[in-house]
Amino acid sequence: MHIARTIPELREHLAAFRRPAFVPTMGNLHDGHLALVKQAQPLGDVTVASIFVNRLQFLPHEDFDTYPRTWDSDCEKLRTAGCDVLFAPDEKALYPEPQTCKVHPDPALADLLEGHFRPGFFIGVCTVVMKLFSCVQPRVAVFGKKDYQQLMTIRHMVRQFALPIEIVGGETFRAADGLALSSRNGYLSEAERAEAVQLSKTLQAMAAAVREGERDLAAIEARAMQTLTARGWQPDYLVLRRRADLLAPSAGEPLVALAAARLGSTRLIDNLEIDV
Ligand code: PAF
Repeated sequence: MHIARTIPELREHLAAFRRPAFVPTMGNLHDGHLALVKQAQPLGDVTVASIFVNRLQFLPHEDFDTYPRTWDSDCEKLRTAGCDVLFAPDEKALYPEPQTCKVHPDPALADLLEGHFRPGFFIGVCTVVMKLFSCVQPRVAVFGKKDYQQLMTIRHMVRQFALPIEIVGGETFRAADGLALSSRNGYLSEAERAEAVQLSKTLQAMAAAVREGERDLAAIEARAMQTLTARGWQPDYLVLRRRADLLAPSAGEPLVALAAARLGSTRLIDNLEIDV
């Protein structure tokens, strides 16, 4: 695996390839990331991953400084997964001057849910993804469906700017008990880890209620809120939205259940597409 630390070095190395397939990450890689790398492999003529903890997408009180940085094991995992090129710039290499030119995604999508509770989050995400796209110039990029709204926001950005990049969604990778894999799961204590499965269980209960024909979506959401709150969680949202734009659905539209909730000091997110 070739490791490029700067944009010119990356571009020089990728010049020989016509169809890079790209998986951007912030490192601390788990099996979910590696599944995205494996999904990317047959889609291009070179598989590129990036590791960059992007300051722009963290609010001042969030975990930028403590975000787990696990360089050696990340490299080993990427090598084993068959990644060809790792782009791992430091902040100076990716942001040599303050990044004052930013991508502002459509607020109709990006100010909802995650964007509401983490203002500016999707500006940070879209700005770094646009910049990484400019560096790697991929023909295809794979993003996990666990960050459902992020995937939708990036798809919209790519469409609006007519970027010649196919955006592919990777299924959420779950532990045996159903917890969606996330770099932030490492923050959980043993007791919290045992409790954390309740987030996906609550989403499943919401999906089951919809499938069984319950029409009052607000009542389903309120019950889910109550369930998690009673167990000591602090939910930001537990909602049923239409898949097309994450707005409130009308009858018969394909739905997705989305959740973000804090367990102790760890904020977890998850979602479930509901097929009726
Ligand atoms: O999903 C992530 O890990 C990050 O938001 C991304 C897409 C790598 C941008 O920093």
